[in-house]
Amino acid sequence: MTPVVDIHSHFYPDNIPDLSARFGGEWPGFRHTAPGKGMITLGNRDYRPVYEACWNPALRLEEMDRDAIDIQIMCATPLLFAYEKPAQQALECAMLFNDAALELCQRSPERLKALCQAPLQDIDASCREVSRAVRAGHLGVQIGNHVGPRNLDDEGLITFLQHCGEQRIPVLVHPWDMMAPERMPKYMLPWLVAMPAETQLSILSLVLSGAFERLPDTLRICFAHGGGSFAFLLGRVDNAWHNRDIVREDCPHPPSHYTNRFYTDSAVFDENALALLVNVMGEERVMLGSDYPFPLGEQKIGSLIKNSNSFNSETKSRLSGGNAVKFFDL
Ligand code: CO
Repeated sequence: MTPVVDIHSHFYPDNIPDLSARFGGEWPGFRHTAPGKGMITLGNRDYRPVYEACWNPALRLEEMDRDAIDIQIMCATPLLFAYEKPAQQALECAMLFNDAALELCQRSPERLKALCQAPLQDIDASCREVSRAVRAGHLGVQIGNHVGPRNLDDEGLITFLQHCGEQRIPVLVHPWDMMAPERMPKYMLPWLVAMPAETQLSILSLVLSGAFERLPDTLRICFAHGGGSFAFLLGRVDNAWHNRDIVREDCPHPPSHYTNRFYTDSAVFDENALALLVNVMGEERVMLGSDYPFPLGEQKIGSLIKNSNSFNSETKSRLSGGNAVKFFDL
């Protein structure tokens, strides 16, 4: 039986040390607000309310049972990346949360798995830390879709991806630090508008720069949230590649040629959108991902795939676990 695997979920420890006191400046923190509830803080500000599933693996397992999820892969909440901090501090932060993630997984090592984080402002330190973390038990690494002004086609980030490809360390790319926040002060617009665009930007930066021509075939890389706006806009991008030389100058093939070089999760919340995504990516390259335990995640994990009328049972089994088993060597 193929297990049901949720490849995109987050953790946030409730015993996070006072990083602002340790390092100075504004760092993520946490405080309990009520039984089973808490507030993620950033410096002195409240950032986001969360509930116990972020830090309590027993509750996570209960909710996995409720939704018939066999294995869940968790990664840090992107707020914890610290890419804008001094590299040594970001490395300490990464090691702290990487070790904390493995501790959560100890509750049920067969069912709870983790992806590490890396201080991407320092590529050498990142390569060392992901290799350390994978030896310690992490399945792969989650990275932000950009590091300040640098997109994924940045030479240093390419070096990091090459390292992951050579070491066979799977990579999940998560959007964060969204563009144009001054124009999106309300309604969670950065999550609704900028996040899908951030992911599109990181996929196209790899495609149009020709980076996939240089990255090893062994690189397994997956983009969160169904690849953002990529699938829906691929026709537009292909048309631009065919008709404008400045679009294709570094990219020898049409963008649609590269869909076999990466994966996406399934977090698109709509049956037609998922059908389009699977059509564009191929049924081998979409994996169940929920964004649990956040309000913008799939509330009944796996239900979109399970209830879809677009796929036969074999395809559903690939999407809900078979592809993840291969991608993460489960
Ligand atoms: Co997420």
